[in-house]
Amino acid sequence: MSTQAPDLALFVNAAEVVTCEGPARARRGAEMLDAGVRRGVAVLVDRRAGTVLEVGPEAALRAAHPAASVEDCAGGVLAPGLVDSHTHAIFGRSRHDEQELRAAGAGYLEIARKGGGIHSSVRDLRERSEEELFTLGLSRLRRLLAHGTTTVEVKSGYGLSLESELRTLRVIRRLGEALGVRLVPTFLGAHEVPLEYREAPRTREDYIRLLVEEMLPAVAREGLARFCDVFCEPGVYTAGESRRVLEAARAQGLALKLHADELENGGAAQLAAELGATSADHLAAISPEGIEALARSGTVATLLPGTMLFLGRSKQAPARALIAGGAAVALASDFNPGTSPTVNFPLILTLGVSQLRLSAAEALVAATVNGAAALALADSVGQLATGFRADLALFDVQDHREIPYWYGDNRCARTWSGGRRVQLA
Ligand code: NIG
Ligand code: FE
Repeated sequence: MSTQAPDLALFVNAAEVVTCEGPARARRGAEMLDAGVRRGVAVLVDRRAGTVLEVGPEAALRAAHPAASVEDCAGGVLAPGLVDSHTHAIFGRSRHDEQELRAAGAGYLEIARKGGGIHSSVRDLRERSEEELFTLGLSRLRRLLAHGTTTVEVKSGYGLSLESELRTLRVIRRLGEALGVRLVPTFLGAHEVPLEYREAPRTREDYIRLLVEEMLPAVAREGLARFCDVFCEPGVYTAGESRRVLEAARAQGLALKLHADELENGGAAQLAAELGATSADHLAAISPEGIEALARSGTVATLLPGTMLFLGRSKQAPARALIAGGAAVALASDFNPGTSPTVNFPLILTLGVSQLRLSAAEALVAATVNGAAALALADSVGQLATGFRADLALFDVQDHREIPYWYGDNRCARTWSGGRRVQLA
């Protein structure tokens, strides 16, 4: 057996390296205060293996590896590539019309009840070919990557039929291959109850049966998703229905996620904890019992402050209470056409600090290590440490606290996935 010689690259001249180095699991409580920020260090990467070999004093690494190719960080801040563990990046047209309706006083679920909201994205996606969805997804994901994200969870959920859900998931698989970054596919066939199942002769029960008996087995057979998610919310899927879908998903070998307690409390956080879901997401309306349940569980609490901001809702998830209680908190963009049309993950860090009252270090940990844990990937991404995947983001700032500070401005200069530059065009 021949072992190939490593192809070494040395990342030098960073003002700071945010390593997030530590145990390969979600960080909780005071652990989140430490983003492992180091000065005077370089990062040695094996491009062939796509992993980090060492993070250490720059002078020593330069002397030990004179043949390594040099990546000059030009006095910026080098961080693990951001891990965006919650997006709905595959959709057709924008939904800017609803933004004005909400400004004029309409509620999010009220718009949905009138056939807008998710239903409007469903009507639109069903009309589009796989090729069209691929092209739209490619340009949107490139924008996302250009802001420092290198691992992206992508949900289906704007098809809501067997054929259109499978088409969406196949597009996600092709996009991951085309972009050369890790996309984590999630089946969200239970994003809404499609309109055609709300009138006789069909019923919502028929749709749930379709999910459980046909869609989930087909998704599993083709290996198209790692996770199954459900929009568990009063007015969408009840906790009982969510449980049925998630238990069926688990039986098909999928790991679980849950849109939980986003707008109103429905005990969804407790359900996620009880089912051993990898993450419970949103949580703006979580109850004290829900906080306790997540704190006692291995389920990551994924907070999406961009969504509440865009919906114009003043109540954000209780991040401080979750952290104080001992829950693992992650941040994600929720990139989607209805409630969070942003590709700017550093902006979500801004909101993490200003709206959720996180420190900059907590926000960085929430967007790297804990995002990785929300995808069951904490052993391979989210840290710049020996053996981890060489996913890096270079920011044009001098102090890591400036990453959430310059809000709305894209300070990401370059990204690497598995040690290779991410090509954005
Ligand atoms: O996470 N809450 C459900 N899903 C998305 C919104 C989807 C949409 O409105 O298109 C969310 O906010
Ligand atoms: Fe979502």
